[in-house]
Amino acid sequence: MPACLIFFGVVWASAGYAQFPTPAPSAAPAPDVLFRNQCGTCHTLSANEGPRQGPPLSGVFGRRVGGVPNYKYSAGFANVDFVWDTQRLDAWLTNPRTVIPGTVMIYRQAYPTTRQTIIDWLKEQH
Ligand code: HEC
Repeated sequence: MPACLIFFGVVWASAGYAQFPTPAPSAAPAPDVLFRNQCGTCHTLSANEGPRQGPPLSGVFGRRVGGVPNYKYSAGFANVDFVWDTQRLDAWLTNPRTVIPGTVMIYRQAYPTTRQTIIDWLKEQH
């Protein structure tokens, strides 16, 4: 069978599977996997685990910026006062330094849908 027919067969099959709960292999990673891959090296979700390089992010949505007691934020955090909402988190994940100059969080996510998936998921983590 020519390779292109095999390719079409695979596409056809995965399109068919889309109606089942099991995601097709090509589907975007689940939000928790995305969080683990993108943020998990530096952030936990539980205050009990103690901070990694960054503060724990459970309950960060709706929390005051720099709000984790005992976490030593960089100096710029002293000059800002807001609550993390969708807009702030979106700007932060796009480029943290536009939100808090001098922050040491080295991360940027250029894809809006990836940022949105992570933000939506963070809303649920209390
Ligand atoms: C390379 C390590 C690293 C990665 C990866 C990273 N962060 Fe951070 N994050 C930090 C550090 C360090 C801080 C503290 C920044 C400071 O003090 O300047 C921080 C701070 C934050 C804050 C501010 C928290 C508060 O209490 O005000 C948020 C929100 C945040 N990160 C979200 C995320 C999300 C969501 C991801 C993944 C999409 C992520 N970070 C990926 C290291 C990281």
